Amino acid sequence: MKLGIKKDRGKAAGWGTNRVETGPMRGAPLPAPWRARLENILITEEQLARRVKMLAREIQRDFRGRELVVVSVLNGTVMFLADLLRHLDLPLRLDFIGVSSYGGSTESGELVFTKDVRVDVKGRDVLLVDDILDTGQTLSRVRSRLQSLSPRGIKSCVLLDKTSQRRVPVSVDYVGFAIPNVFVVGYGMDFDEQYRNLPFIGVLKPKPGGIAPPGAAASI
Ligand code: IMP
Ligand code: MG
Repeated sequence: MKLGIKKDRGKAAGWGTNRVETGPMRGAPLPAPWRARLENILITEEQLARRVKMLAREIQRDFRGRELVVVSVLNGTVMFLADLLRHLDLPLRLDFIGVSSYGGSTESGELVFTKDVRVDVKGRDVLLVDDILDTGQTLSRVRSRLQSLSPRGIKSCVLLDKTSQRRVPVSVDYVGFAIPNVFVVGYGMDFDEQYRNLPFIGVLKPKPGGIAPPGAAASI
């Protein structure tokens, strides 16, 4: 399988996105223990490291001199957030917000807040961090929740954007990679709470005899 990354500088949107396309991949073989469960590596450790550093540079430039509060959506952002934060050379406060989806699928399931923010965001600039922007429901709900706390402003940052899947319009200011509609795991992201520890992002194999991995079991 070849991994193709096309530069797609989204000038109008104000950010640069790497569009990742699946295809025959060269040079990033799947480690043996994962071959039975994963289709291929979509984004390597090196590509992640490079892109996250670039995102941090953009964010640092935009938030310099502001009272920054980073609010990260649990649990999928764990690795992305840790890597992003260590490159942010800015004074900031950090908090987490928890959201879970119930009721069948990430697309139709009802969203429930499992943890609210505790840091005071009133009058401060919020950077909202999430792992994947899919239908847009999660980011939109979390944004509204934060907006009700009267911050000075909110910008959002996602590592991955499944651009073709959007159902709820939501603005996003920083995007790591635009990806096709495949179910991904690793680098913090899970299927049924597994695979979060992978240092790369892989595409999950469909269950034998079944359809694609159900978004249903993906916990946020
Ligand atoms: P949305 O509300 O449809 O935008 O879904 C966003 C959330 O669904 C993400 O924060 C993830 O937790 C989860 N999700 C969507 N696609 C995937 C995937 O491919 N792998 C793992 N989790 C996913
Ligand atoms: Mg999530």
